[in-house]
Amino acid sequence: MSVLIDGVPKCNLIRERHNRAKHSFGINVSHIELALLDAKIKLEDIDMISISSTQDYELVVVDRPHELKLEYGAYPDISFTSSLYNNNFNKEDDSFKRLLCGNILDKVYSKNNRYDELKHIFPEHKKIKKEDLAVTKSLLNFASIDFWGKELCLKDIKYINLKEILNEKVKIQNLFHFPMRINLKGRDIPGVAIQHHMAHAASTFYNCISDKSIIFTHDGGLPPGPSCGMIFYGELNKIFPIVPNHLFIGSLYTQVGSFLGFGSHGAAGKLMGLAPYGQPEFFNQDMVGNIFDMRSKGFKNPRIDWLKYCLRSARAKGYDLDPIGNTNRILEPICVDIAASTQKLFEETLLQSIEVVSDMCINNQLDIASLCYAGGTALNCPANSRLLKKSAFKRIYIPPHCDDSGLSLGGAQYVYHHVLNHARLKLSEKSYLSIPYLGLSNYENETNEAIKKFEDQINIEEVSVIEESAAQDLYENKIIAWFEGRSEIGPRALGHRSLLINPLFAENWERMNSLKQREKWRPFAPAVLEEDVDLYFQGLPNQSPFMLFTAQVISNKLPAIKHVDGSARVQTVTSETGGLFLILKKFKEFSGISVLLNTSFNGPKEPIFEKPAEAINFLLTTNLDTLYLNRKKITRKTTSSK
Ligand SMILES: [Fe+2]
Repeated sequence: MSVLIDGVPKCNLIRERHNRAKHSFGINVSHIELALLDAKIKLEDIDMISISSTQDYELVVVDRPHELKLEYGAYPDISFTSSLYNNNFNKEDDSFKRLLCGNILDKVYSKNNRYDELKHIFPEHKKIKKEDLAVTKSLLNFASIDFWGKELCLKDIKYINLKEILNEKVKIQNLFHFPMRINLKGRDIPGVAIQHHMAHAASTFYNCISDKSIIFTHDGGLPPGPSCGMIFYGELNKIFPIVPNHLFIGSLYTQVGSFLGFGSHGAAGKLMGLAPYGQPEFFNQDMVGNIFDMRSKGFKNPRIDWLKYCLRSARAKGYDLDPIGNTNRILEPICVDIAASTQKLFEETLLQSIEVVSDMCINNQLDIASLCYAGGTALNCPANSRLLKKSAFKRIYIPPHCDDSGLSLGGAQYVYHHVLNHARLKLSEKSYLSIPYLGLSNYENETNEAIKKFEDQINIEEVSVIEESAAQDLYENKIIAWFEGRSEIGPRALGHRSLLINPLFAENWERMNSLKQREKWRPFAPAVLEEDVDLYFQGLPNQSPFMLFTAQVISNKLPAIKHVDGSARVQTVTSETGGLFLILKKFKEFSGISVLLNTSFNGPKEPIFEKPAEAINFLLTTNLDTLYLNRKKITRKTTSSK
């Protein structure tokens, strides 16, 4: 959840960081209280609440359900919320009822065949009875697919008449938000439910520097329709939906990861790391397109058809298929070549999608230089780099919170700018680079309390310049954790919750994987001083402050961050990053190199650490050498507790 004051993002709380369950869903009243406390506002200061749901799950209030009541519909006495109504959402109408959905809790609580897959994303089910939760169904797609009235193949997008669509903009844009009545701790507050991809769109457009942009969203949602992704047009403070892109490549990508044995959550990230080990032997140009392209070619279920095609080709070429699904044999040819082929299919599909979007702009005499991109697929760094090199857009904005962790901020910004019609805020380059650091700040007491709690097991060392000490440790080839102030919004550690190690030694790749109990083959990313990036990397299409683009490593001194294909997922570091900038400066003085291996500070299958006690506990239970916790240098008293 996020707090926005006068349009300025004040803080962002990611629920999984607090209940320690990756990808978990739900709303806690206690988390709302924490965020309000951090933003220094009271309940009565809240003017409006936006809500968006992830993966069409119901809105579930987990703690104190009687203190947060949610229902759809406008406050009759608040004029601007009633204007959010649209004929398409007449409550008496069947079309509205059709939009209600949801049965995720049934699946978790009934322990049916999806229980093993889903139990991790709602661990509360072990302690809380289902009837003690407050559940509000989610609005499925908001906009009906019938509204666009056409089965659009990718090439058809080129010929869209934007004028025609934008003439309908009031009608269309109202399909993407819907009024809610919310009662929080006894206070009635108007609310707005925001369609999932509109929240993604807002999360990128309102956090970019351009006033005018095409916005593209895509994630693991299923086509056809707006739940898999959309093309929008953003201008000043408004976002106008153009058309769904009907892509399936996001869900296919995750499905392939699961098929190879990576489970259902986090499979996409692992598949991206695996792909460079293989060759795209099974790539098939015929499978490039959206769901309607596939249907026109006779592929009824392209996600299944793709896997069948890979297996058929593999058999014909004499591959051993036994390793599939066995992660101990994941580096064998069949697995890595399926991964590489799927990555290529992903990249080619994305490139073609963006090409038709840029053709659409040309055909409509719309001169737009920038593309805003969000949704989980925007975490695919090699694809992003190819996109920027090959597409007609000069600049691509992808926010650090491009996945579902950005929905709450995007939703709040959409309400503020689009619904309430407040002017867009001017974002400087400096404030753009500071976007990620929105976690809660009120951990000073918790740092002291955690230190007190573990005082028998830890040493606090006095050092004059903390960043210099950290750089010295790294130069001496120690593994350090750097925990600084507000945590990062989004899934990547960008210098406030980071594990760092010297990239000059090849064995540090394995040391770090061993510390995090990850698979040996998984790669790591470099953090580099932005001013020095060209000394070590080639082909980085633009700055990459949020670790979202790849480049080729041209230095032979950095074996720990160089992937097998010579690429690296680069984070360019500036003073806005915080302490990591100064650590890199000092490390350069010691070693002559301004690059470090930077990975998220968390244990196996865990979310990134949010709180000081979690960081100290990691120090005490692993081989981590030094923890720098909010400017305190902490080491273990003995090694016996490992
Ligand atoms: Fe999403």
